[in-house]
Amino acid sequence: MSYQANLRVWRGDDDGGALQEFTVEANEGEVVLDVIHRLQQTQAGDLAVRWNCKAGKCGSCSAEINGMPRLMCMTRMSTFDPSETITVTPLRTFPVIRDLVTDVSFNYEKAREIPSFTPPKELQPGEYRMQQVDVNRSQEFRKCIECFLCQNVCHVMRDHEENKKAFAGPRYFIRTAELEMHPLDQADRRDLAQDEAGLGLCNITKCCTEVCPENIKITDNAIIPMKERVAGHRYDPLVWLGNKLFRRP
Ligand code: SF4
Ligand code: SF4
Ligand code: FES
Repeated sequence: MSYQANLRVWRGDDDGGALQEFTVEANEGEVVLDVIHRLQQTQAGDLAVRWNCKAGKCGSCSAEINGMPRLMCMTRMSTFDPSETITVTPLRTFPVIRDLVTDVSFNYEKAREIPSFTPPKELQPGEYRMQQVDVNRSQEFRKCIECFLCQNVCHVMRDHEENKKAFAGPRYFIRTAELEMHPLDQADRRDLAQDEAGLGLCNITKCCTEVCPENIKITDNAIIPMKERVAGHRYDPLVWLGNKLFRRP
């Protein structure tokens, strides 16, 4: 089945822009990215859109479709009624470069602030041994494709540009949790998570979990355990005493 889809696409740059209406052919089995590409081929040759794999694995085609943060390559046109107008806009939390392309470098800056994996010094590559149960725990977090949809939807940054300095966002809470839960890791990132990355600003609304295309349970499996670890480390008197007496070298 082929039909004419009604699209409303945001066009502009960091100086401003507007939604523009288009009618574009759509065919059975297509996704929003196919129709955006057809629009680019037939009517708007200079439309800027970022994509790479078209398989939900590179994380580059993130946008807002009818206001919902989604991957364009994983959003089937059949999700919408053929008579419906589909609105495609760039991620709101990051500065627009042009049309549907945003500057997500904020995320790479936050990534660099997290100390990397720190195994014991005497352990050589090849000597790392982990139990399967420990592997399973961090495996979920390793599925992240860095689409930044969770970062985009988080109201702490989405509605408050001023929070960006002191808030790393859900993608980096799972990175911190992954390293904290690694049995061979020696670094302690709990103070950093709380004081520098703004873990305390998260009020567990779970919006990040809802939009994650990899179905990572960001809030339940990473953020809440990290909050518990911080609370235990800072406020549990027995843990405090234990830390004083048996401080890790
Ligand atoms: S659960 Fe926390 S990190 Fe996730 S969207 Fe809500 S406030 Fe942001
Ligand atoms: S955690 Fe999920 S939503 Fe966030 S960047 Fe990774 S894959 Fe995307
Ligand atoms: S094009 Fe790679 S995730 Fe969509």
